[in-house]
Amino acid sequence: MKVFINKRIPEIGITMLKEAGLEITIPETDDLSYEKWLQYCKNTDVILNVGHNKYNQNFFEECPNVKAIALFSVGFDHVDIKEATKRNIPIGNTPDVLSRATSDVAFLLMQSVARRASFYFQKVKDNDWGSFDPMYELGQELYGKTLGVFGLGRIGFEMAEKCKKAFGMNIIYHNRNHNEEAEKELDATYVAFDELIEQSDVLSIHANFKPEQSNLFDASVFKKMKKNAIFVNTARGGFHNQKDLYEALVSGQIWGAGLDVTNPEPIEENDPILKLSNVCVLPHIGSATVEARNGMAKLAAENLIAFSKGEKMPRIANPEVYEI
Ligand code: DGY
Repeated sequence: MKVFINKRIPEIGITMLKEAGLEITIPETDDLSYEKWLQYCKNTDVILNVGHNKYNQNFFEECPNVKAIALFSVGFDHVDIKEATKRNIPIGNTPDVLSRATSDVAFLLMQSVARRASFYFQKVKDNDWGSFDPMYELGQELYGKTLGVFGLGRIGFEMAEKCKKAFGMNIIYHNRNHNEEAEKELDATYVAFDELIEQSDVLSIHANFKPEQSNLFDASVFKKMKKNAIFVNTARGGFHNQKDLYEALVSGQIWGAGLDVTNPEPIEENDPILKLSNVCVLPHIGSATVEARNGMAKLAAENLIAFSKGEKMPRIANPEVYEI
């Protein structure tokens, strides 16, 4: 079976695929044009996809030979899941193995904004150390404050647990379903969306993104948030309206924002949000640790190996494909 991998992944995944007898193609360059990428996809049986290439109806029509896709990501918002399922194509993903690393980044952004770390680091780089000033650009402490989690799944749980253990934070959350484990272990309280945004001192997004949630966090939401609130997004940039977020930050409607994902992504070079002292932006590095990336490579390989043996993929975004 032929596997196309569009970007080199950690060796552990490659070795597993080779040992299972799969024939691997990895292009010389990381920077494939769309046409070239499509050409590779047309000539393969299965794909191990790194990044956010779009798998939509048009793709599936153009590449009728593709029988399975293993994503090197937990998120699958770039895949038309309905269309894949209709065509009997399993879409593997990589949950769990990156939950710690991604929640670490949410925690890091929260603290970095609370203590104005990126602002001060920029000053030091600008050779402006400053002098001890009792009132200048003070941060805020998080002890005993309220963390609101939008989407309390695996990553949200890890974030909530860290906040609880480190700062004794009170956890509230909004989800499609109740998370009983979080309620039991972290004393987390399920609240309505409006309560979440009104009560959170830190509001952190950890949900899977769906198109209908585009710009959910907009001006109408930011204006209901607390003045001291820190907005953290490590999920998908599409959740927030970046212009509205900028306005909320400049006007002091909210206190700060930590973003590992932006809208659009990559962020535009002259996005005014980058000039703000109460913002920390990272370039979508949630899973960028050796441990998480090795775990993702292993899971993606396991998914394809299972498929090649005619078995179910162990981690799958469209389990319904096996019910047809
Ligand atoms: C994920 O795994 O979904 C990360 O956000 C990278 O796309």
